[in-house]
Amino acid sequence: PTVERASLPDDEFLVIAHRGASAYAPPHTLAAYELAVQMGSDYIELDLHMTKDGKLVALHDSYLMFQDTEQAVADVTFNELQLYLPGEEFNETNPRYASPIYKQLRIVELEDIFLHFGDSVNYYIEMKSPNKYPGIEKELLRQLRANNLLSSDDGIPKVVIQSFSENSLKNIFDMEPSIPLIKLYSFDKEAHLSKKKVRQLLKYASGVGLNVDSVTKKFIDAMHKEGLDVHPFTVNDEKTIRKLLKLGADGVFTDKPDIAVRVKNEE
Ligand code: G3P
Ligand code: CA
Repeated sequence: PTVERASLPDDEFLVIAHRGASAYAPPHTLAAYELAVQMGSDYIELDLHMTKDGKLVALHDSYLMFQDTEQAVADVTFNELQLYLPGEEFNETNPRYASPIYKQLRIVELEDIFLHFGDSVNYYIEMKSPNKYPGIEKELLRQLRANNLLSSDDGIPKVVIQSFSENSLKNIFDMEPSIPLIKLYSFDKEAHLSKKKVRQLLKYASGVGLNVDSVTKKFIDAMHKEGLDVHPFTVNDEKTIRKLLKLGADGVFTDKPDIAVRVKNEE
């Protein structure tokens, strides 16, 4: 028998705080996630990697510059990663929002994010480079279960998982089909998926995420016809967020969740 895909809420424009409220605080830190929650985001978005000693960490890049060397996350331990200071880069590049407090921030383990927020927030997790980290899907599911984050309620799903990797998403679907899965795309031109690709998607995915400059009403309508949700990334200006809402997008990845929440509440 066919296994049912998980569903996302109807008629709800989801504000997905991209790397936390990352326009205002160092991305992927507890400070950025806390701010995102205070601003009323529906989800905190985080990219996942795995250290040499098997710890899952929230972080965008596979390689980091610290101790004057570029190092792969996969080749260093979690303790070694603590030498990287996310606040320093943020303070240098964002003088308007810089704060001395941010210098104390460190890269966080997923487990600590779960301990910190528990089930009081919703998580939108990206399997970033799953090929580099065999077993990462299994470990993520273990942690989600251990923290009771997979129990369903009537609200929006507690956890959504996204990836550019179809393999990784299918792997998760096979182990835990209750989690809504979002297949990510980056289109050079206007977004389009062949009938064959849509058929493939419908085996496991609940929606698609895609670069905002490729989004058209035609594409959104085509996805909706198939029962797939559409989440464009990454949008920080009010005008475009309002336009996406009008076009029928089902949510938006944004570094400025305060703006998206304001637009959403205008409705
Ligand atoms: O996850 C989709 C969105 O976050 C865009 O990708 O590179 O910012 O993780 P990235
Ligand atoms: Ca991401």
